[in-house]
Amino acid sequence: MNNMLIGMFVMIISCSILIGISEARLKIGFYDNTCPDAEFIIRDVIRDATDSDPKVPAQMLRLHFHDCFVQGCDGSILIDNGRVSEKRARGHQGLKGFDVVEEAKARLEFECPGVVSCADIVAIAARDAVSISFGPFYEVETGRRDGFVSNKSLAARMPDFGDSVKLLKHKFFEKGLNVKDLVVLNGAHTIGTTACFFLMDRLYNSSPHGGPDPSIDEDLLPELMDACPPNGDINFRVPMDHNSGETFDTQILENIRNGFAVLQSDAELMDDPVTRRILDSYLGFTNQSVLPSFEADFVESMVKMGRIGVKTGRRGEIRRVCNTFND
Ligand code: HEM
Ligand SMILES: *[C@@H]1O[C@H](CO)[C@@H](O)[C@H](O)[C@H]1NC(C)=O
Ligand SMILES: *[C@@H]1O[C@H](CO)[C@@H](O)[C@H](O)[C@H]1NC(C)=O
Repeated sequence: MNNMLIGMFVMIISCSILIGISEARLKIGFYDNTCPDAEFIIRDVIRDATDSDPKVPAQMLRLHFHDCFVQGCDGSILIDNGRVSEKRARGHQGLKGFDVVEEAKARLEFECPGVVSCADIVAIAARDAVSISFGPFYEVETGRRDGFVSNKSLAARMPDFGDSVKLLKHKFFEKGLNVKDLVVLNGAHTIGTTACFFLMDRLYNSSPHGGPDPSIDEDLLPELMDACPPNGDINFRVPMDHNSGETFDTQILENIRNGFAVLQSDAELMDDPVTRRILDSYLGFTNQSVLPSFEADFVESMVKMGRIGVKTGRRGEIRRVCNTFND
């Protein structure tokens, strides 16, 4: 009788361990035992890369967003598989920093081969990017594994700079993110730059009447036109957070509210009462007595975004090189 009970107990325990493995979840410190220095190594690489190119943090942060929104956060954005490569999709234009991820991967492979996924490198690099830019530091959940698919046709639902706020909301809902996540994550535009390419229509041929988008502040407009003249270099880059492009702060929210949004999609957030109210809340306009923390909410939404469609446990693989499947 006793033996039978013990036997049943052992069976139940081993079953739950098995289920635990197949339904493994992300957790903080996933590499604590298998590669204890993983996060330090990545941070060093990001720091060094930033020292020689201050554009790196913004590139890392954007890369994580683009990775997560197609096929989940699984490193699919990093793969080079010819013309079909996901990274060649229209919606991914301008992504950079692949070499930095590869550098981190090479150092990790040297230290603990076959352990740290490329998807996790991207997630950790995004976190480091935020803190290097004087934003909040937060613990990143890890344990993502790398995916087996890279196909640009899967990126068709990537949020686009010309989307209406209604469509942006919809695309975020599809990924399990709500309207607050949309506003808060879009606040990532507090750092980084945009190519003139994404501004040309907004400056010279906005819909429906042509000419400049009337929502652009009259002081900002000549500045943007000067930086991005009609037949100028569409690859020239301008800060997205006017006057505060390298620091992580709430200036971007204020800019959006005051007609200083640079991107069309940022400006759109003023066109919807719900997104506008969320913007206002961080600036103390909705309720003076409760001022939510943009930093805390940003962290919360980043963690949420970092969970989209992740492959854990025995799904996926740990790539040896980030731009190539293991075979
Ligand atoms: C709401 C939908 C979004 C749209 C339509 C959008 C669109 C864009 C566009 C057009 C650029 C300029 C790209 C270039 O010229 O290289 C850009 C840059 C950037 N985006 Fe977004 N974005 C969105 C959401 C996000 C989110 C959720 C994040 C991260 C959490 C993010 C992070 C960034 C960063 C950091 C940059 C600067 C990149 C750099 O300086 O190299 N964006 N975004
Ligand atoms: C990419 O996806 C498209 C559309 O689903 C499909 O027709 C095509 O065969 C895929 N290409 C590869 C190489 O998997
Ligand atoms: C502002 O927030 C406080 C505290 O939550 C609440 O009691 C009050 O009713 C709110 N005021 C408005 C105008 O929403």
